[in-house]
Parts: sequence; C-alpha cells; structure tokens
Amino acid sequence: MERRTYLQIPGPTNIPDRILRSLAQPVINHRGQEFEKLVTRCVEGLKKVYNTENDVLIFPSSGSGTLESAIVNLFSPGDTIVASSMGVFSERVATIAEKYELNVIRITKEWGESVKPKDVREVLEKDVDKKVKGVCLPHNETASAVVNDIEGVSKAIKETNHPAILVVDAVSSLACMPLETDAWGVDVVVTGSQKGLMLPPGMGIVSISPKAWKLVEKSTMPKWYWDYKAVKKRMEIKQFPYTPSTTLLFGLSEALDILEEEGLENVFKRHELIATAIREAAKAMGLSLFAEEGYQSNSVTAIEVPQGIKYKEFADILNTKYGVVIGGGLQKLKGKIFRIGHLGSLHKTDIYAIMSAVEIALFELGYKVELGTAAKTVSGVFLNEQ
Ligand SMILES: Cc1ncc(COP(=O)(O)O)c(C=O)c1O
Repeated sequence: MERRTYLQIPGPTNIPDRILRSLAQPVINHRGQEFEKLVTRCVEGLKKVYNTENDVLIFPSSGSGTLESAIVNLFSPGDTIVASSMGVFSERVATIAEKYELNVIRITKEWGESVKPKDVREVLEKDVDKKVKGVCLPHNETASAVVNDIEGVSKAIKETNHPAILVVDAVSSLACMPLETDAWGVDVVVTGSQKGLMLPPGMGIVSISPKAWKLVEKSTMPKWYWDYKAVKKRMEIKQFPYTPSTTLLFGLSEALDILEEEGLENVFKRHELIATAIREAAKAMGLSLFAEEGYQSNSVTAIEVPQGIKYKEFADILNTKYGVVIGGGLQKLKGKIFRIGHLGSLHKTDIYAIMSAVEIALFELGYKVELGTAAKTVSGVFLNEQ
C-alpha cells in the first residue's frame, strides 16, 4: 500500500503537492517571453523572502556550490576572512575558502554551541590593520541544530568600525526563521532550494549588497560558471549565461505563491511553534537536547541518542514501521545524536505523528517512556499557544 513518508531529515523537505504539480509542467524555451515572466516573478518573490533590495542571483547548483560562488566572487587568493568552526557546514565554508588560498581565521566552538557577537568583535578588534575582508557564518548550523545571532554579529562588526562584509549561509534558515537581509545589514546571503523553500535540491540563490559588489569588482579569483558579474548581466534581461533549471523555477514560483499566501510572519510563527512542540515533547520523554539553550534552531532539532539505544536500529524502526525518516549525527556526532528536520511544509498534526513515532520506536527498543507522553506534551504546547 502506498503511504506518505514523513521526510524529517533537515532537508530536502516534504514537497507540497502544489509544488510537485508545478514541477510536472513541460519545459519552456529559456530565452522566450514566458521564461522572462517566470524569472521576474521568482526574483521579485525572492527579494521579499530575503527582505532585500539587493541583487538576487540564481544558480543551478547545490547550496555548497553557491557558497563556493561567494568565496570565488568576493575574495582573491591571499585575502583573510573570519569563518566559524561549529559543525559540518560552518567548517565546509572555511575549507572551501582555504582551497582557494584564503587565510581563514576560525572562531572555533564546541559543536552544539553558537558563535556570539562578542566572539566576532574580539577577532575584529585584534585586526588593527583591517586585513579581514569578510566574516562568513552560518545562520543555522544544521549539523548541531544551533542558530547564530546574525543581527548581533552584524551590529558587532559595525560597532568595531571594521570594513569587513558579512556573508551568511542561510541554507537551512531562509523562509524558516526571520532573516532581515537589509535591516540587519547582511551583505551576502546564500541559500538552497531544498529546505525552507520546499523544493527539490538543485537550486542555489545568493543576494549581494552594493558593498559586496565592490569586492566582486576587485576579486582576482578565476571563475566562469560562478561569475556574478556575468550572471547579473544576463539576469537583467531575464536570462542566464547557461541553461538554467527551468523546472525548478516553475517550482520556485509556486513556492513563493504558497509563502506569500501564508505570509512570512505566519511561516516563522509556525516554525517556532512546531519547534517548541518538538523540543518540549523530547524533554518530556526524558531526552536531552544537544544544542545550547537559547540558541536552539527552529528548523532542526538535535537530540542525544539515549544510553543503550543504537541510532541505526532506532532510525530503521522509525522508517520501516512508521514511515518517519530522520537524520543522524554527522562526522564526530555519528551515533551520538539524531536530528529531526522541521522546516518547510509541516503542520501541527504532523508533529503528533512524528513525535509519537519517535516515542514508540524508542519504547520498542527498551527505552523507558510512558506511551502517550509525546502527544500529550504536543497538545499542551498547542493549547498554550491559543
Ligand atoms: C547550513 C547548510 N549549509 C550548506 C549546506 C550544503 O547544501 P547542499 O547540500 O545543498 O550543498 C547545507 C546542507 O544541508 C546546510 O544545511
């Protein structure tokens, strides 16, 4: 019997039927009038989701590709940047930068902890020669389910009177948590299609401020496919320098309609409520949250695998018996935590299914929990909200 799977990895996320149907449209000429309208709609809609007047460019790529695009367009070999090492994805940006021969000053944190504005301030205050060209941080470190205070970091950069630009990886936060690109002064924001935008993987998006464009002008890094100047020029006439993913643009247009219908504020509130319900249910079941209190993400929750439980057996039961697919710990967190993605198209009733399945799967493996705890706690959170 065909059944719905709850795809609760921290992206790709569940795709709404409306978007799936939009992806089934016949492909159109990517240099025709219909396509121009599609690009115009997507860029205008993205600017609203980004809260920006900055340029927004679209790449047929994964999130990592678009992060690499930021490094090769903004900097030159030998430049110095500040990056963080607080999990797999923050470390990835630092690694990409080093591959391109940048000097990377790492702000290193225990996985599970966030980077604080004061950490950035300290590094920039030491940079008396103002060598640092950019500060690159994830908004949401998906590997540890930790959110960083990007608004605070931006303020810290301004208060030190440092000219560095702020580059933010918002792959797992855009359209899930508030991100005020212009009001907070974030120069470059990178995201991917497969998270809050509820699309399949394969599209990367980046916004670029006028201050960041000045660095683009100076960058000597070799590039062709990623060249922001070339892409911007073609996107001004609603085209791309190469064949774009027309199908994903259809999906994006539909996703933007869905987000606009709900209203971004409501989208954020829904993510917050659902995240609260998941965290509270986990705690009520006696489970420990991995991320630092106060910096827990509203798009993914990391939970410590309880003593005596093997992650793989647990995840297998969840998947095969209950149709819930969760994410495991990455790299040094393998087997130690499990991650529940709760971003994109997810609604209150889904949380009963997901958390009750987590509960019964643990119970079947001998974990001591009173069955029904999860559902009762979730109801409590939802009732409290009204
Ligand atoms: C915060 C963050 N950055 C970057 C990436 C990499 O994106 P992709 O897998 O699309 O290359 C991910 C993927 O999960 C992510 O969560």
